[in-house]
Amino acid sequence: MKGKFYITTPIYYPSDKLHIGHSYTTVVCDAVARYKRMQGFDVFYLTGTDEHGQKIESKAKEAGVSPKEYVDHIVESIKELWELMGISYDRFIRTTDDYHVASVQKIFKALYDKGEIYKGTYEGHYCKPCESFWTDSQLVGGNCPDCGRPVEQAKEEAYFFRLSNYTDRILKLYRDNPDFLQPQSRVNEMVNNFLKPGLEDLCVSRTSFSWGVPVTFDPGHVVYVWVDALSNYITALGYENDRFHDFDKYWPADVHMMAKEIIRFHSIIWPALLMALDLPLPKKVYGHGWLLFDGDKMSKSKGNVVDPIVLCKRYGVDALRYFLLREVPFGQDGSFTNEALISRINSDLANDLGNLVSRTVAMAEKYFPGGLPADRLAQPVDDSLTSMATTLRPLVEEQCDNLQIPTAIGEIFKFISRTNKYIDETAPWVLAKNEADHPRLATVLYNLLESIRIAAVLLTPFMPHTSPKIFAQIGAEENATTWESTGTFGLLSPTVKVEKGEALFPRIDVEKELAELESLSAKSAKVEEAPAKQEDQKPEGVASLIEIGDFAKVELRVAKVAACEPVAKSDKLLRLQLEDGTGTRQVVSGIRQWYTPEDLVGKKLVLVANLKPAKLRGVESQGMILAADHGDAARVIFVDSDLPTGSKIR
Ligand code: ME8
Repeated sequence: MKGKFYITTPIYYPSDKLHIGHSYTTVVCDAVARYKRMQGFDVFYLTGTDEHGQKIESKAKEAGVSPKEYVDHIVESIKELWELMGISYDRFIRTTDDYHVASVQKIFKALYDKGEIYKGTYEGHYCKPCESFWTDSQLVGGNCPDCGRPVEQAKEEAYFFRLSNYTDRILKLYRDNPDFLQPQSRVNEMVNNFLKPGLEDLCVSRTSFSWGVPVTFDPGHVVYVWVDALSNYITALGYENDRFHDFDKYWPADVHMMAKEIIRFHSIIWPALLMALDLPLPKKVYGHGWLLFDGDKMSKSKGNVVDPIVLCKRYGVDALRYFLLREVPFGQDGSFTNEALISRINSDLANDLGNLVSRTVAMAEKYFPGGLPADRLAQPVDDSLTSMATTLRPLVEEQCDNLQIPTAIGEIFKFISRTNKYIDETAPWVLAKNEADHPRLATVLYNLLESIRIAAVLLTPFMPHTSPKIFAQIGAEENATTWESTGTFGLLSPTVKVEKGEALFPRIDVEKELAELESLSAKSAKVEEAPAKQEDQKPEGVASLIEIGDFAKVELRVAKVAACEPVAKSDKLLRLQLEDGTGTRQVVSGIRQWYTPEDLVGKKLVLVANLKPAKLRGVESQGMILAADHGDAARVIFVDSDLPTGSKIR
């Protein structure tokens, strides 16, 4: 064994159906975990679900079931999805698991005993009928997002973590460990937006809802969000519980992987909590970009199918995995469209890889049905292929070690192109015509099969279902499929016999497929719309029905973010300068926890243009921007960049 390697995904909220954005992190971590295992590391790959909180509590209430019943079936479907996608996690943690709950209680108490947690007062908007506190960004038109009634400013007793004591230590952590937080741009975001202004203490308990881990020494309080959620990374290993005994072996984590909106929690709050507990810190926190759907973090608009189950069924798991791993430069945002997916499948998988395998195997079978003859004739043209083959692995490893999976795969595909070129250079079909050229033909085919073998081994972490199919076709024995085997050219039997199989990735007719997908998503949109069309019936989860005239009172417009900066002395508010088609206006929005100014500048979003101006923390806000709830977070509703600024939305 080369040592241990512990990698984690975020634990997902089981409140929504997972889309391919969630699969993105899970597939990337899976690829890294498989790569490390093949290299000989003792890998532990953790994923799971984040099941507590007010949101789940209210959704369960709406559905008329207990919160646990509500999450249970969603968690099952998440596990099924990971199975379908070939996710090789070693443990799945649910924050409702008994052992996790007990560990979090001990962690909370330990922090309290050390004086790291103290009792104070939490202030926010309170909806009496719903008994719920809401943040600025959660309010809809200034009202409760659940029932639509007015809220009032209220206070509740709460515990706070002394995060403000950790500003300097976190800055030092970044300075001393340049690899701790990556990509580097995220360090600048954290330093400029949160650390330089100084950290504020963090609310870590609530009394206004009960679906959470109870605080043992103060009944009525439940642990609020991050102490519960972040601790999963250690409780799943057995920290403060007897259920597992892997903590000493695997902690600290080698990589915590997630998208950028939760970087702050992992690169500031989590290390501070670990420092408070006197525990070692994770080695790396990586915040990758978002998979965007029509410029937004997620939506089903423009007929794009984003359900990973549908996509896996249509194109195969490995095609989807390949797309997720290859398409977007790692760390940056990238767009998902069905068109881009199909084009990748056709060009890289059907054309480059699939054709290479099927042409080579077909020729080997046709010219030497009983297996390759032992007579050989090498030529200088072979050298550039064979040397590229044996030096490929270090190139792939260098990229994978830096978590640059798209580039690692790119290296393998450069080699696949080189191998295809070798077929053109050597023209086996010409050699086949003349018996005297058969030793040369055997050499050419052997070199092709060996090159395919090496490429397929190196592709295994990314396309774990495809490589074994290739091995079966090219007659590779087990010893020729290990990671180390890629350093040697010539591991297939000299008289290898191939076995033709099905096409690995059949070509897709783009036009036909896109038309089918469009009708598919139109159909599912109709199904989703159906209940709302029944006039007098109030759809489930809707507070009250309004007339069209009520809606018409709200003036919604497309606005472009011209500039954006944090509001001083607030860790929630951003000040946006919006171009609304008539000029520029200032809007303050409580989305700073989830967005940095860089995320917003240049984007187009939805402005409520006729809202009475209000002052937030002394800063005037002329209107508000629309955002959707996602778990405890808010996600801004972005619109197509080609919509003119100022367009009326109706
Ligand atoms: O935030 N593109 O859970 P969550 C890329 N429970 N990645 C995406 C994505 C997209 N469009 N959409 C989601 C939570 N993700 C908390 C985490 S951890 C202690 C608690 C991925 O269900 C990405 O990894 O909202 C993101 O960070 C994660 O899903 C958020 O999942």
